Amino acid sequence: MSDSVGSHNIESVLHEERRFPPPSDFAAQAHISSEEQYQQMWQQAKDDPAGFWGEIARSQLEWMEPFETTCEGEMPDTKWFVGGKINATVNCIDRHLKTWRKNKAAIIWEGEPGDERVLTYQDLHREVCKFANVLKKLGVETGDRVTIYMPMVPELAIAMLACARIGATHSIVFGGFSADAVADRNNDAQSKLVITADGGWRRGKEVPLKAAVDASLEKSKSIEKVVVVRRTGGDVTMVPDRDYWWHDLMEDVSAECDPVALDAEHPLYILYTSGSTGKPKGVLHTTGGYMLGAMMTSKWVFDLKDEDTYWCTADIGWVTGHSYIIYGPLANGATTVMYEGAPNWPDEGRFWQIVEKYKVNIFYTAPTAIRAFIKWGDDWPNQYDLSSLRLLGSVGEPINPEAWMWYHRTIGKERCPIVDTWWQTETGAIMISPLPGVTEAKPGSCTRPLPGVVPDIVSEEGESLGDNQGGLLVMKQPWPSMLRTLYGDHQRFLDTYFSKIDGCYFAGDGARRDEDGYYWVMGRVDDVLNVSGHRLSTMEVESALVSHEAVAEAAVVGFPHDLKGEGICCFVIPKGTDVSEETKKELIAHVRQQIGAIATPDQIRFTNSLPKTRSGKIMRRLLRDIAAGRESTQDTTTLEDFSVLAKLREEAE
Ligand code: WT7
Repeated sequence: MSDSVGSHNIESVLHEERRFPPPSDFAAQAHISSEEQYQQMWQQAKDDPAGFWGEIARSQLEWMEPFETTCEGEMPDTKWFVGGKINATVNCIDRHLKTWRKNKAAIIWEGEPGDERVLTYQDLHREVCKFANVLKKLGVETGDRVTIYMPMVPELAIAMLACARIGATHSIVFGGFSADAVADRNNDAQSKLVITADGGWRRGKEVPLKAAVDASLEKSKSIEKVVVVRRTGGDVTMVPDRDYWWHDLMEDVSAECDPVALDAEHPLYILYTSGSTGKPKGVLHTTGGYMLGAMMTSKWVFDLKDEDTYWCTADIGWVTGHSYIIYGPLANGATTVMYEGAPNWPDEGRFWQIVEKYKVNIFYTAPTAIRAFIKWGDDWPNQYDLSSLRLLGSVGEPINPEAWMWYHRTIGKERCPIVDTWWQTETGAIMISPLPGVTEAKPGSCTRPLPGVVPDIVSEEGESLGDNQGGLLVMKQPWPSMLRTLYGDHQRFLDTYFSKIDGCYFAGDGARRDEDGYYWVMGRVDDVLNVSGHRLSTMEVESALVSHEAVAEAAVVGFPHDLKGEGICCFVIPKGTDVSEETKKELIAHVRQQIGAIATPDQIRFTNSLPKTRSGKIMRRLLRDIAAGRESTQDTTTLEDFSVLAKLREEAE
């Protein structure tokens, strides 16, 4: 297994001795403020999960009908809050209207060109109710799936919440994905409606979303109608009786729409993520358990308070945006910032300008962004007043200790705790993370499990391993916000997560636990890449490559990349003899067009053979070494043809 995690710098992590206890003034005001409190909560949640979560669910969420049973059934088929009726928007919006928060900013939005919009909770309520009525008018019913393919504009938040209000299951597709990716997801979910925009702004250029939707509809027949937000004003083709402008539809609908009382286990959303095969997995989250997880982790980990301005820089197209821009912060009645564009537009100071402008208190971003900031230089953040910040967060991949130190010094001015949060699309909410008022941080470790999370490190055979032994990260107990299935493929759900280690959820990550019970995640142990904090399967990229006429066979592996964490290296056997730079460029463009810009290959290496076992399996571990420029320490006894390796190395030079 060690080879699979070999692309990460395990060495520097192993020797990390630095410790950062929470500042005492932070601890004094935190929601969870002492080690005893954490220990007591964690132990109770482990010994009596139903008692622990039942009490919290009753006191923290608003139920339309109370649940009878907190937790029913063994993992993986656990149901939470059985019998309870709930609506996510009641919890994110309506309940705040009965308090002083009615006129509090729910969403502070800034567009890339600098335009602004603030929606109070009352505003958000009105817009969500109106659009929910639009959805009904367009024939969307409780239980239908709706695809959302939008830039980071307020209408995105409104659209997803409007779906939740009527119990339509949203499937948000990240705006950076291709038309083909939209079509695949439409088909898999059998969506009825697509909500999109003419385009969005990214580094001053228009990303043409509606055009991509048009192309996707040639391949996705379940879609009946398309709603288009006018954002950029770019040219679009509107097909009569199929395509409708958002602003037209919103003109004369009522601002009253009763929330539908949904089963706690009603599917709130599907979010597609990459697995180790070519076909993306439709991770399905339900309403009650997911809302509880998103809400409580926002409160515990980000120590969210009413006076905070909170900013998570993710795109809502990823799970981080679902849980920590929308559902979690809004359930807490917080003010959440939403920014449309790139961090380096119009210049590399944009994020810090936003922090200064809105006096952001809590800032949550990804290591890949932090590495870019380091590269751009300290002069950018140093030009701005960052004194409003009180807490910093990181998510998406292991954070290099040096990046952690830079974040701590240059952004946090050695004053702000850093929460390195480990979780996944599947877990719905943060699982392993420091509690900022309690946990002493060690740079590079996501530290300890939150209350209700019972992880372990096990061998391939499922045996629990001792301190500091690298193994597989698993969860031994179910938790409310865990995925319930992979949409339309329950067998794949069982196979992927529950068949490897008996009785446990297998996360797909390698990790170790140190002598203090701290977790150090090393990275994926499957064929999943982590490119800039985003998951991509090597097979997806391979399928895209072989769909090009010039390609006979392809093998894709990750390699260490300064900014992206992992870069994409493609070994390609051409069909003919053309191995020109032109063809390389064409293949790169082809992969981008098939999957999206995040899948852009960093390297294309033409070769006439690939290292294979006698049974014909590509030996990726060898390719990983070659891509990384490392001497191989791998066992090559099963390699069919040794000369292949020497040739590949020559070709690499
Ligand atoms: C994979 C999940 C969950 C939000 C973003 C990514 C890696 C995530 C950390 C962290 C080390 C991390 C894991 C995980 N990962 N956060 N703090 N430390 N690794 O969601 O696309 O579902 O990817 O991201 O490898 O399995 P995702």
